[in-house]
Amino acid sequence: MFCKSLSVVSSLVRHSVVISTARNMSNGRPLVYVTRSDMPQGGLDLLRKVCDVRIWAKPSQVPRNELLKGVVGASGIFCALTEKIDKELLDAAGPQLKVVGTISVGHDHIDLAECRKRNIRIGYTPDVLTDATAELTLALLLATSRRIPEAIHEARTGGWAASGAWAPVWLTGPGLANSTVGIVGFGRIGQAVARRVKAFGTAQILYTSRADNRRAKETGAIRADFDDILKKSDFIICCTALVPETKEMFNKAAFEKMKRTAVFVNTSRGGTVDQNALIGALQNNTIWGAGLDVTTPEPLPLDSPLFKLKNCVVLPHIGSATIETRNVMSELTARNILAALAGSEMPAEIK
Ligand code: DGY
Repeated sequence: MFCKSLSVVSSLVRHSVVISTARNMSNGRPLVYVTRSDMPQGGLDLLRKVCDVRIWAKPSQVPRNELLKGVVGASGIFCALTEKIDKELLDAAGPQLKVVGTISVGHDHIDLAECRKRNIRIGYTPDVLTDATAELTLALLLATSRRIPEAIHEARTGGWAASGAWAPVWLTGPGLANSTVGIVGFGRIGQAVARRVKAFGTAQILYTSRADNRRAKETGAIRADFDDILKKSDFIICCTALVPETKEMFNKAAFEKMKRTAVFVNTSRGGTVDQNALIGALQNNTIWGAGLDVTTPEPLPLDSPLFKLKNCVVLPHIGSATIETRNVMSELTARNILAALAGSEMPAEIK
């Protein structure tokens, strides 16, 4: 059932936030707070058909204090991975809050236990971003191993001219063909990455998983333990969710077990890596290079040593950033919220 407009108003009064509530009082429509003005339109249009939508006015990350004010009285929150959904925020929203929909598959920014305690349902966006994220993972792997950013820089700034029209070992890097690729985390995205790397003629694909994965047969991927993957792989790709067990699993000891020629790629969460250990491993050539779509923190400060290292490619968390995918993610987030507000089954709920 949709929230009663009265509870919205009383919550707003309690928190002394000055916004117009007349529409909620007269039309009984639930209020949904959206954390960015640049959320893809499809989702916003779906919400607006049924709900009153309050949106953070700017196409930038909402400051925490504004977020805490903005959610007051909302029955639903449409957020991104940049917003921490914790006890403080749920308290600020008020007891009428029924659903949080995040436009992401990762949900480490949401306190699930706290939401469950309050019967707040949580929607997310699995599946729809698998292909986009796997594509970006391959792009980042190749950009790192084939030194694409460095090559572009050299071409534009005279390095090409200095080295001659063609140079035999200049800007060379390890090839994917005939290599061993280790995929840490063999969920939807890990499997999609395996299908793609196989097309490059890899010799072997290894993966970590609690049990044999029946989809692994499609690519001939072999289950291995984490240590084996570290020791045997030429490319190590992190696709695992960030949970307590995976926090900083790529630490100094892990980098030291890798081949000196290894390329490490992370498109999951920065928290899976001990970043100082990675910086050390790159500076000391303990490993050959790293491609990171995720870091700690995000955005990565400009003075981070990672930006100074030629053997590191950093992207600003764009794994799922295809136009089509972001639209579908926005619509799925809205449909999750609408279903929860209607008390129906959600298309993608975290249970
Ligand atoms: C996710 O969905 O968790 C990605 O990291 C962002 O698209």
